[in-house]
Amino acid sequence: MRAKTKLRIVCVVGARPNFMKIMPIMKAFAERAPEVEVRLVHTGQHYDVDMNDRFFGQLGIPAPDVSLEVGSGTHAQQTAEVMVRFEPVIDECRPDAVLVVGDVNSTLACALVAAKKGVRVVHVEAGLRSRDRTMPEEINRILTDQLSDRLYITEDDALANLASEGIASDKVMHAGNVMIDTLLANRARAVPAIETLTSIVGANAQEWVEQGFGLLTMHRPSNVDDPAVLETLLGVLAEASDTLPIVFPMHPRTRSKIAEFGLDRMLDRPRIALLGPLGYLEMLGLTCAARVVLTDSGGLQEETTALGVPCLTLRENTERPVTIHEGTNRLVGRDPEAIREGIRIALMQDRSTAARPHNWDGCASQRIVEDLVAWASAGQ
Ligand code: UD1
Repeated sequence: MRAKTKLRIVCVVGARPNFMKIMPIMKAFAERAPEVEVRLVHTGQHYDVDMNDRFFGQLGIPAPDVSLEVGSGTHAQQTAEVMVRFEPVIDECRPDAVLVVGDVNSTLACALVAAKKGVRVVHVEAGLRSRDRTMPEEINRILTDQLSDRLYITEDDALANLASEGIASDKVMHAGNVMIDTLLANRARAVPAIETLTSIVGANAQEWVEQGFGLLTMHRPSNVDDPAVLETLLGVLAEASDTLPIVFPMHPRTRSKIAEFGLDRMLDRPRIALLGPLGYLEMLGLTCAARVVLTDSGGLQEETTALGVPCLTLRENTERPVTIHEGTNRLVGRDPEAIREGIRIALMQDRSTAARPHNWDGCASQRIVEDLVAWASAGQ
């Protein structure tokens, strides 16, 4: 019988939403260091200080062991470039498994390389489905799950989604939500909203925090790449600022689209604060203090549910239905009347104190690492 050797796991990150998911997993692996050797690979899908470095610093994520530095490109270019650069890492490292998180292009690219090399794939945040294949992330989710050997889910709907695609339930474990591990671990360290707002709107910050403000994020191609859609959304949000100050940290993609379509003037209003992308702790502080969050992000739908803050999702669908059934989320799409109505209702709501969804308790990463070590050791 072969002597039991230390397990070797390659963990992959690429884009901003991956960083808060990998942080608690790396920490949980560190606690099992005698049994597991972990290598962190960063594809470089996101690379700006604002989109990348600040998260590693604030969250204390160890520096990547390997940086692939792929940068931006079309989906085909980006995915292909990650694959080409990831393959030699696998050849050199020969891991027992590759762990990928979320649904970005780097997730699928690395899962595909590993699977074709006969290396087992582990997917954290598996089984989410929007049923909207115009979203690049939906394609990434479906294919990554098909390639995965062990799948960790965040909500019950995911199990049925995977079953309907022929994925056996014995590969799947409901571990909870690693993003909420990070939120709960960092909540006390969040930068108070007043500090962030003072640096942008000066003396008005006090009034905004006391009276309540809306926190807006928007970066999905379906919302920002079409000039007519973007203009409609900015119009209704500008109008909403008469009722409620709006704080808008902008993704680089959104900023460049607004400039390209000549829509900057729509946001030139006294009660709209425009910011660049924020660090994790600044964003968490603003989310905790917001009266309502308006977003097309997946992560914020979950974070607002965990915090009990009303959330209006500027999309027609969500891959995270638990945030609607058990949380504070409401789909308002891009219809101005639905957005107005959503804001009106949110302003009447008290902050929810409802329990969080099952296993959104800060311990998802420990559950994942414990299960993964047992599972991977059994197949070594
Ligand atoms: C990606 C993910 C999306 C996630 C989002 C969070 C995919 C398919 N999409 O979208 O699921 O919600 O990250 O941010 O993987 N850019 C910069 N600096 C950077 C990174 C990007 O300026 O550090 C700009 C570039 O102009 C780039 C554009 O943003 O072309 C889009 O970046 P990309 O990584 O292709 O997708 P995101 O829109 O960020």
